[in-house]
Amino acid sequence: MSRFPPRPRQALEKDVPDFRKRHRRDSNKKRLTKRQMKNPEHYRIDNKTPEHKKKFIQNLFNSIVPTYDLLNHVLSGGIDMIWRTNIFRYLETVKNNPAIDLCCGTGDLSKLLYRKGAKLVSLDFSFNMLEKGNKKVFLQGASVAADASNIPFKNNSFHTATIAFGIRNIPDLDTFIKDVHRVLNNGGQLAILELVKPEHRFIGFLYSFYLGTILPLIGGIISGKQFAYNYLSKTIATFINPFDLQTMLEKYGFSKVKHYPQTLGIATIIICKKRNSLVREL
Ligand SMILES: C[S@@+](CC[C@H](N)C(=O)[O-])C[C@H]1O[C@@H](n2cnc3c(N)ncnc32)[C@H](O)[C@@H]1O
Repeated sequence: MSRFPPRPRQALEKDVPDFRKRHRRDSNKKRLTKRQMKNPEHYRIDNKTPEHKKKFIQNLFNSIVPTYDLLNHVLSGGIDMIWRTNIFRYLETVKNNPAIDLCCGTGDLSKLLYRKGAKLVSLDFSFNMLEKGNKKVFLQGASVAADASNIPFKNNSFHTATIAFGIRNIPDLDTFIKDVHRVLNNGGQLAILELVKPEHRFIGFLYSFYLGTILPLIGGIISGKQFAYNYLSKTIATFINPFDLQTMLEKYGFSKVKHYPQTLGIATIIICKKRNSLVREL
C-alpha cells in the first residue's frame, strides 16, 4: 500500500495555478537579475521599518555620489548654493561655537559653517558622500559616519545644528528631533533647509510637473540612476508640510520656530531654538 494517500482531484486542480504563480515569480526573479546586471547597485525599497528605509536611502546616496554635486547645481540652476548661504542670514552667530551639520553629504553647507568660524562636526551615514566631501576638502572639521537619529555625542554638546536637504529622507522623525534636541545646549539653534511643495497652486502645478518628469529625466541621464531621482523627487511630494513639522518641533522641545520660504516657496528654511524641557505638556 502506498504511504501517501492520493490527493483529492480538487486539490490537484488548485495546485496548477499555484505552480503558475510560482513560475511567474521565478521569471520575475530572472528579470530583476538582468536589471541588476545592468545596474550593479540595484535598489530594494523595503520600508517595513525605519531601519529598512535607512538602509535603502544609504545605498541610494552611496550610488549617486559621482554626479551628486553636479546634478544638485544643474537641477536647481545653482540656487541651492544661495539657499545654503541664506541660512546664515537667520541664524545667530556660529563663530567659535560647536556646531554639527547633519546629513552633510559632500559638505556644501559644512564648508560655509567652517568658514564662518564654527567648531564643526559633519555627520552623514553615507561613507561615499563623506569620502567625496573629504576629497573636495569641504569637510574641514571632524567628519563622522553615523545615523542622524542616533547622534554619537553627549547631551548639550552643540550650540548649532543644521540639516540641508536631509530631513525628508529621515523615516523616524520623532526620534531624530528628540536626538537633535538632546545634543543641543539650552538656547541652542537648529536650522533646517528643505525642498517643499509650494503653496501657490499654479507654481505648485508647474513644480509637480518638473519633479515628476524633468528632474528624474535629467537626473537619470546624467547619473544613469533614474530610479534614484524618481525616488528623491517623490520624497519632496510626500514630505510633511512645514507647519506640521513645526508642530513636531514644538512638541519635542523647540520654540521660536520661524519659516523663511525661498524662491517661490519651493524651498524653506526653518530656524528654531531649544527650550529647556523636552516634551511640551499638551
Ligand atoms: C540630499 S543629500 C544633502 C547633502 C548636503 N546636506 C547638501 O546640502 O548637499 C542628503 C544626505 O543625507 C544623508 N542621510 C539621509 N538620511 C540619513 C540619516 N538617517 N543619517 C545620516 N545621514 C543621512 C544622505 O546620505 C545624504 O548624504
